[in-house]
Amino acid sequence: MTTREARVLPSKNRSHELWNSSKIPQIRGARYQYPCLAPREFAMKLPFMQTAAYLKDLFDLSGKTAVIIGGTGELCGTMAVGLARAGAEVVLGGRIPEKAEKRLHEIQSHGGRGYFVPVDVTSRESLHSLLETVLDRSGQVDILINGAGTNSPTPFLEITEEEYQKIIDTNLSAIFRACQVFGQYFVDESRTASIINLGSISGLNPLSRVFTYSASKAAVHNLTRNLAREWADKDIRVNTLVPGFFPAEQNRKVLDESRVLDILRQTPASRFGNAEELIGATLLLASTKAGSFITGMEMIVDGGFQAMTI
Ligand SMILES: NC(=O)c1ccc[n+]([C@@H]2O[C@H](COP(=O)([O-])OP(=O)(O)OC[C@H]3O[C@@H](n4cnc5c(N)ncnc54)[C@H](OP(=O)(O)O)[C@@H]3O)[C@@H](O)[C@H]2O)c1
Repeated sequence: MTTREARVLPSKNRSHELWNSSKIPQIRGARYQYPCLAPREFAMKLPFMQTAAYLKDLFDLSGKTAVIIGGTGELCGTMAVGLARAGAEVVLGGRIPEKAEKRLHEIQSHGGRGYFVPVDVTSRESLHSLLETVLDRSGQVDILINGAGTNSPTPFLEITEEEYQKIIDTNLSAIFRACQVFGQYFVDESRTASIINLGSISGLNPLSRVFTYSASKAAVHNLTRNLAREWADKDIRVNTLVPGFFPAEQNRKVLDESRVLDILRQTPASRFGNAEELIGATLLLASTKAGSFITGMEMIVDGGFQAMTI
């Protein structure tokens, strides 16, 4: 064992047999002989760094391109602002250019960079065209957010085949398609990448009145973990961001007065979330450094809703 290897091994394990190089097979051409050394290196730099420089080092997204599908909407538009403020060039994907324009002004007012590309997630061709446009304009994609979503409060026995298919198509099949289209690019280019799929707490435990939505989101959570397993050795991380309750366009029709009261009673923080409160989690999952070992995770941001009992 070289001095460098001995220095970076966790101290309590230094003399432990497990770390004997002859007993551990070389894993996927890891940069080091053992596959767990990078965090130790961060720690060793700490005393010499200023706080701002340290945080920048962990979370800086300069030079990255983030494609945010659903970036014309409330939550993902706000997440796009956060990604742009952290240095990424952001591409807002959606169907309505006017919604993107407002968001792009906000991004520019912070000194960020971005543009809109129209996309309909129900069409594979449209997703291919989104990828091609971004590669033409930006030359690369590093971060993909799958956040297009739709919802309906129709009682279970009244849900039509058509409505069911529409919600499944927009919330689930679209993510399957986008992960194939962008995933193929990431794999072909051996590109380190982060994919963030928007799940829901109703994907963890089904919520009343949103039957198809809950089923679609549960499948998104499963698909995400499955892809995380599939691509972890390619440095393509796939995580689910799980918002609790945030006022937005797609859930307005579900949020009548009694529903709002039910939600507040069940939320220890006693309030809805603000979209800005998703930015920290987004940056963590997007960052190649701060989030480098996070994959297949459900990052819940819900004011304690999921933890509530009596
Ligand atoms: N708000 C919440 O409390 C909450 C909670 C949990 C999870 N979520 C999830 O978070 C994500 C964002 O939702 P949001 O609350 O921010 O709602 P939102 O403001 O209504 O945004 C949804 C976005 O999806 C896009 N979209 C819908 N169908 C599309 C299609 N066929 N092709 C392309 N884009 C499409 C819309 O873009 P265009 O209008 O431009 O087409 C819209 O901007 C969704 O996946 C949602 O399920 C939200």
